[in-house]
Amino acid sequence: MTNITLTAPKRLRGVIHVPGDKSISHRAVLLNAVATGTAHITNFLPGADCLSSVACVRALGARVDQTGERELLVHGVGLNGFQEPVDVLDCGNSGTTLRLLAGLLAGQPFFSVLTGDASLRSRPQRRIVTPLRAMGAQIDGRADGDRAPLAIRGSSLRGGHYQLPIASAQVKSALLLAALNASEPLVLTGRIDSRDHTERMLAAMGLDITVTTDQIVLRPPTAATAPTALSLRVPGDPSSAAFWWVAAAIHPDAELMTPGVCLNPTRTGALDALRAMGATIEVMNERLEGSEPVGDVLVRSSMLRGTTIAGEMIPRLIDEIPVLAVAAACAEGETVIRDAQELRAKETDRIATVAAGLSAMGVAVEPTVDGMIIAGRSGILHGATLDSYHDHRLAMAWAIAALVARGETTILEPAAVAVSYPGFWQALAAVQEDA
Ligand code: S3P
Repeated sequence: MTNITLTAPKRLRGVIHVPGDKSISHRAVLLNAVATGTAHITNFLPGADCLSSVACVRALGARVDQTGERELLVHGVGLNGFQEPVDVLDCGNSGTTLRLLAGLLAGQPFFSVLTGDASLRSRPQRRIVTPLRAMGAQIDGRADGDRAPLAIRGSSLRGGHYQLPIASAQVKSALLLAALNASEPLVLTGRIDSRDHTERMLAAMGLDITVTTDQIVLRPPTAATAPTALSLRVPGDPSSAAFWWVAAAIHPDAELMTPGVCLNPTRTGALDALRAMGATIEVMNERLEGSEPVGDVLVRSSMLRGTTIAGEMIPRLIDEIPVLAVAAACAEGETVIRDAQELRAKETDRIATVAAGLSAMGVAVEPTVDGMIIAGRSGILHGATLDSYHDHRLAMAWAIAALVARGETTILEPAAVAVSYPGFWQALAAVQEDA
């Protein structure tokens, strides 16, 4: 796709059914692939990242039928049913695919290699390699195991106790999935406060997993607690909905509704941050869909003020920081983002890339080691040429900034949105009213 050039519309109106949640879609494929039975997954996100998970489990011998654009049948092979893949497993741009699979493959009796695109190969992997090695995994990679490709010689695994030093759901999930093939229980403490979709799904599949505020205990499956296939409807992705929430909040004449969004409390930090900034938000029709809370979210034009985004809320909004930074740029007063050093380990170094884009739009932004300080400009951004650096969330954050910018904004490499939100550009066109 060539570059996209946008200008600010007069009005934003509409109901946007955002695609299925990316984290839950990955887990629906990866966990059901090692379950017993067939799972019917609806509202699956057909984004490039989740399709990488589908391709990898197929290469490991699990059958996945795509029965509709957003519908899959995953035929589980059981905990020991994967077969040695005949080639390296390509995880594309997807950290979730690579890290969760590393956990699943560490205890399989064969050799496998996980790799990905240039962005994924530059991201840190020691965070999973060190604890997996402590469980008995034989796993190696470039930079002493810190960079993919990762080579895994499957081996028998122990359980044990691991204190998570960073709030990462990919690390937590890699260890929980490794523990499915371990000989003793796995106990996780420390930063277990990241998104908990893996824990919820494992429990719903029948595993013996206990979660309290300060620890997670997973006991090795027995015949009675081995994972059984779990059919589910994937709720809408709050990380995708957040683009529309910010769009509505910063645009002077806007009302946007996102029905059916996942409202798992480990994912609702962006709503909390926007409320703290004074956004007009209504959450309606809250319900439970399978293991996940879901609701409809309506956001209207708002007068935003600066805020502090830090501490416990960071893991609950980590993927939304690029678009929250756009909200901060349109707010009255300063916004401080800290404790977010994890942003440097994402698809791009999002402290550097977000700061570069906002500066190009005329915003005074100071990157720091673990975040940034953004001086609000009360809605006056200048159109500019902005690079997505192939990072899906940057491409979409810049599109939202363009909705309130003076003049034209051109986004380079807009096709990157397909990683998590195929159809984003069409949805953007549909909510703009100019008459
Ligand atoms: C994800 C976890 C988060 C998040 C990513 C998806 C997941 O990464 O940023 O987009 O599905 O587990 P970390 O585990 O690195 O924090």
